[in-house]
Amino acid sequence: LARGVREPDLAGRHVVVSAGGTREPLDPVRFLGNRSSGKQGYALARTAVARGARVTLIAANTALPDPAGADVVRVETALQLREAVLKAAADADAVVMAAAVADFRPASYATGKIKKKDDQEPEPLALVRNPDILAEVSADRARPGQVIVGFAAETDDVLANGRRKLARKGCDLLVVNEVGEHRTFGAEENEAVVLAADGGETPVPHGPKEALAETVWDLVAARLG
Ligand code: CTP
Ligand code: CA
Repeated sequence: LARGVREPDLAGRHVVVSAGGTREPLDPVRFLGNRSSGKQGYALARTAVARGARVTLIAANTALPDPAGADVVRVETALQLREAVLKAAADADAVVMAAAVADFRPASYATGKIKKKDDQEPEPLALVRNPDILAEVSADRARPGQVIVGFAAETDDVLANGRRKLARKGCDLLVVNEVGEHRTFGAEENEAVVLAADGGETPVPHGPKEALAETVWDLVAARLG
């Protein structure tokens, strides 16, 4: 093997990666959304292809070139993302939820564009909870030994919040990164700690999103055995 080329340690494996951020429509032209670019999820998909995996990339509202060799499924809302993830997870060895899923969606959808009315303040926006996809795939594993990975961006008490979230979600690994005004969104680089349900803690120094992706697949491959 040439230097820098990895063993195809994910050969014969099917991995599912979600990327981007969901959009929750209010009417035909407006939505609630978030700033996730999808770059980390795409880096995960590219590196998994390079390591020999069959990759299903579920992309929510991304504007990035399709990674060569991955099957790309496009979705918009959290409910569509849930359906696509559950379907692809049925025969997956690993599921990595890198997408930013809207926690809430508008309680109702206006089929026509919402208009403002003269001399009237707007109605408050009613929201309902979206399902927690990561918790659901973690609780109902489609296969024994399936490895489930979540991502969490935290602004304060990063490690303590990460540990609590890992336990609450029931996943095997949680990639925790600190976000703030100038950090992470749309950036090419990332810095994180990967927390494991077995107590492990793997720091990933500031670097390209590919490097973090490789660390995630190292930890996944070790658990797949
Ligand atoms: N996630 C999910 N379904 C949701 C919300 C989040 O699958 N409805 C996944 C994300 O893809 C991510 C992980 O859960 O991998 C953590 O997301 P995060 O927003 O940090 O978790 P929440 O439980 O929503 O906590 P918070 O209240 O801090 O937003
Ligand atoms: Ca959330």
